[in-house]
Amino acid sequence: METLIRRAASLLASAHRLVILTGAGMSKESGIPTFREAQDGLWASYDPQQLATPQGFRANPKLVWEWYQYRLGLVEQAEPHAGHLAVAALEERARGAVVITQNVDGLHARAGSRDVLELHGSIRRFKCLRGHRGMSMDDLAGQEGTPPLCPRPGCGALVRPDVVWFGEQLDHVVIQRAFVESEACDVMLIVGTSGVVHPAASLPYQAWNRRARIIEVNPVPSELTDLAHVFLQGPAGQVLPNVLTAVDDQRTVR
Ligand code: APR
Repeated sequence: METLIRRAASLLASAHRLVILTGAGMSKESGIPTFREAQDGLWASYDPQQLATPQGFRANPKLVWEWYQYRLGLVEQAEPHAGHLAVAALEERARGAVVITQNVDGLHARAGSRDVLELHGSIRRFKCLRGHRGMSMDDLAGQEGTPPLCPRPGCGALVRPDVVWFGEQLDHVVIQRAFVESEACDVMLIVGTSGVVHPAASLPYQAWNRRARIIEVNPVPSELTDLAHVFLQGPAGQVLPNVLTAVDDQRTVR
């Protein structure tokens, strides 16, 4: 493992353009469950069709709202862990890198990452079914209804989390930049994603096709492991701080 960590560190230390792509596994050690893990993933006890689709929301807005409020509660109690801090530090060492995340929890920004593309939106922001956006929980305070109604004068449409559900389009500005960055990078660090949800899962292929070096951190192999030049098997909160230490060691030696 030490050799692999050193190999990853030397790629990261000499990266000209770094992309860090993260998924649910990145936040697991902050106490936020992943989606597809057989034992404790969120989808083990809930049906994504009911809870994470526009059809599911139309069929039962109360159920979906309450589920997202439960998840928002988990996010609000959570703190970034050592792996999130290591990501922010790697970004700084690389003198600029972009974090592309599928997570909606905002933990990268809270850990100090500056340039974060939230592919799947944010669980802390809300929008209404007529398209009014940018609401926070504070803007909805004092409402009895579940879900609350849009507070814009004359609107009153149902409010929903500003996340991307299955079958919905990603924000085109965000996904377009994610593709541009993935094609331009020379090193991509992938952390904690199963690599099954597109278009996010296509980004490593863009990087690989342009000859970027791929490093993956995951306790188990994923759909993307075949692309990885260095596979670091283990949890993000342990592996990433070790990688950061190795990067700093290499920078000192130079
Ligand atoms: N550190 C790193 N990776 C981990 C850890 C950990 N501590 N624990 C688990 N993992 C890995 C798992 O092995 C798995 O490969 O994280 C991955 C989590 O996979 P998923 O639950 O499928 O999450 P993700 O790939 O991010 O899902 C993508 O699907 O449901 C939608 O919108 C949702 O953004 C999500 C998207």
